[in-house]
Amino acid sequence: MSSNPSTASAVPNAAEVPDLPFLQVVGDRRSIRYFDPDKKVEEWKVQAMLHAARIASCQGNINATEAIVVQKETCDPDVWDDLEECVSGFNVQLFTQSSHIIIWLTNINAWYGRANDGLSTLALSGALTKYHGWNYEFSMTQTIPRLMSFPKERTDLLLRFETGLAVCQALLTGQALGVGNCLCAFGRKPQGVEQAFKLPPSYKFTWAHVIGYPLEDAKGGGQRVRLKFDKLFHRNEFGTPYAPDPAVEQMLREKGLLQEQAPLDGRFEEIDRLAAQFGRDPGVVSWPARELERLMADEDWDFGPRIRARAQQILDEGGLPDYPEEMRDTFVRIMEEHGLDVRKFLGET
Ligand SMILES: Cc1cc2nc3c(=O)[nH]c(=O)nc-3n(C[C@H](O)[C@H](O)[C@H](O)COP(=O)(O)O)c2cc1C
Repeated sequence: MSSNPSTASAVPNAAEVPDLPFLQVVGDRRSIRYFDPDKKVEEWKVQAMLHAARIASCQGNINATEAIVVQKETCDPDVWDDLEECVSGFNVQLFTQSSHIIIWLTNINAWYGRANDGLSTLALSGALTKYHGWNYEFSMTQTIPRLMSFPKERTDLLLRFETGLAVCQALLTGQALGVGNCLCAFGRKPQGVEQAFKLPPSYKFTWAHVIGYPLEDAKGGGQRVRLKFDKLFHRNEFGTPYAPDPAVEQMLREKGLLQEQAPLDGRFEEIDRLAAQFGRDPGVVSWPARELERLMADEDWDFGPRIRARAQQILDEGGLPDYPEEMRDTFVRIMEEHGLDVRKFLGET
């Protein structure tokens, strides 16, 4: 019997749960930003997502990733109010219309407290072997003390990476079960989430994740454009492009991992329809003509015909905003501080 009454909701037989092909699930994933506020994600799906996070790879098996699953209807109203104050402005609608919010936490003390036992569990599981040079005495006198002497800034980085992996597994599991996902910044009030839950000091809030049933097209109007493959990946040395094989791309299209690029037909009408349904402003944000033209000429991006046509349509319609020239100096300063080519990102003046 379950200790949680909400798990009483029917758990389907394994045979009834659809088995979507993995490559298709990865290809189908989008950040979903319109949720049906009246449709709750079933408890068994939430638990499946958490299980997927729990079995994600973690360094030395230290289990540093934890989560608080929050639902408006059942949580402490004060906690909900506190969270509402923390959620970034552009995420408020996601927060209020989603079914559950998963607050992903990273326990930095897991590194210091569980390294020893974590490695022991790996040895017991047959994963840590002498074949790879593991040796108990060396581990206890060298490896584990060295790992445990890392400063918190370093373990923070290492463990946040690990939390990202766990979240990704949860997110893809949700996707496979028809659940819409979006990661969601809660940066409006620094330390606000930690305070809302009175977290011990070693617990860091890493990211929030909203889930629910998509009210928008589950494909979010197409796969969102990325940089070109050979601009992101290098072969053997930095700066040598890793050329993608068109035959691989073709095969991945057939398997559903690579899909038609956004914006699919009807996407902007859909956005306006959803805005009207909830009394929100219609439309999307546009950048100035000069900026759009520069972007469309940028060789790094993998722009397909749909996004190019959309850019052209916007340019033809006109009425675009002006570039905030008063911000130019700020952008130039920040980019120069980072050694970036200002002309590439801001164009010639
Ligand atoms: C760590 C992380 C944080 C993100 N935070 C937000 C967020 O606060 N709000 C939001 O709408 N999308 C957020 N996103 C989603 C990205 O903006 C998204 O990846 C991007 O829109 C590309 O679209 P896709 O996820 O549909 O492929 C986040 C993504 C990541 C990986």
